[in-house]
Amino acid sequence: MDALVVSKCNRLSGKIKLYGAKNAILPIIAACVLTSDEVQLCGCPHLSDIDDMLAIIASIGGNVRFDGEQIFVCCKAVNPYTIDYALMRKIRSSVFILGPLLSRCGEAEIALPGGCEIGQRPIDLHLDGLKSLGVSVQECSQKNTVSCKGLPRGGIVKLKYPSVGATENLMMAAAIGTKKTVIYGAAKEPEIVDLAMFLNTLGARVFGAGTDLIVVEGKGRLHGARYRSVPDRIVAGTYMAAVGAVGGDVYIEGAIGDHLDAALHKFRLMGMDIMEEQRGIRVRQNGRIKAVKQTVTLPYPGFPTDLQPLLVAALCSAEGESVVTETLFENRFRYVYQLERMGADVILDGCNSVIIKGRSLYGAEVYAQDLRGGAALVVAALTAEGQTTVNGVEYIDRGYQSLGDELNLLGANIKRLTLQ
Ligand code: UD1
Repeated sequence: MDALVVSKCNRLSGKIKLYGAKNAILPIIAACVLTSDEVQLCGCPHLSDIDDMLAIIASIGGNVRFDGEQIFVCCKAVNPYTIDYALMRKIRSSVFILGPLLSRCGEAEIALPGGCEIGQRPIDLHLDGLKSLGVSVQECSQKNTVSCKGLPRGGIVKLKYPSVGATENLMMAAAIGTKKTVIYGAAKEPEIVDLAMFLNTLGARVFGAGTDLIVVEGKGRLHGARYRSVPDRIVAGTYMAAVGAVGGDVYIEGAIGDHLDAALHKFRLMGMDIMEEQRGIRVRQNGRIKAVKQTVTLPYPGFPTDLQPLLVAALCSAEGESVVTETLFENRFRYVYQLERMGADVILDGCNSVIIKGRSLYGAEVYAQDLRGGAALVVAALTAEGQTTVNGVEYIDRGYQSLGDELNLLGANIKRLTLQ
């Protein structure tokens, strides 16, 4: 496991360019299974989750190549029964392969992605939705696998909760075929809109993405394309939280204000200067940020759960008392115990809220246990007196391309240690 040694930083300044959003690119890679032509994806970051997703595509016969910032995927022939179960169990996003495989082959057998660091994350909504489209689903609890049969034949799906992954899986399942699929209660995240745009670039007919009613009119055959995904709003929010924590002046090229409305509102309440410009967002902070009374994570357009740990990390050194409530994932506050090692005053209130009283932090040895919680430790460490060693960088590598190096470009002093 590698570690980042983070020194106290007094100010971040300069320009950072966003790459494509991990949460958009992962389902899009799975959607490449829908066509036998080549797909070229531009502006892709090197992340371990993306490498794993490409390896899953390779395991079912796809040709994959990552060249600079471009990914090439060609699924001329696909074998739904050779999927790499070990990889599927490793990353949650592997479940995205189910919809496209069914749409292309009419059968699929996958390993359950299982629970993960931030919560149980069942896939019942994905499976119930597929059943509504006429697919027969058999779960084998002994092997921890799901076997599905039948080409999705269109129909009506009513999602009980606006699950991002289930909405995406169902859109992909419905993309080929001849019938119409209507998804009620769909998630509205920008990454859903991006997937719809990608599918439509392949020739699909997806309407209403970004609202809670999505209609997919099946199209017999999809073709190849060249596509660039939306910029990563969570990475943008991470840099904003870092500027809030230590102060500075940073231009985030590619950041889209509309995708970050709820977060920008909070950062402004904290006293930060946020200027939305044509091609990005400039964030400025002088002195200590102010506490924010209450923040509750919610599905888009609410405050994103993925930015919850980053917000808390920034608020650890704010002036006053803040409360942050998590409503999406039941196990998303584990990083709080690591912040306490740095002297943070963060108290768990019940199981889904924290009360944060801002104060100075000091360097310590801490352990990342999940992706965003790990990034939050780096943000908090930038404010801590002395040096902080953040262990478990592999978690951070799942969603950030060289977070330490990028922050160093803005004036931080972070060294990566490779531990045997
Ligand atoms: C996606 C994002 C993740 C983000 C999350 C919420 C990707 C690759 N990941 O994850 O970064 O934190 O959206 O914005 O895009 N649920 C069920 N049954 C299901 C599916 C979900 O109960 O079948 C529950 C989950 O346990 C969770 C909630 O619904 O409590 C939201 O999950 P969902 O929106 O599906 O998140 P993901 O797609 O897994």
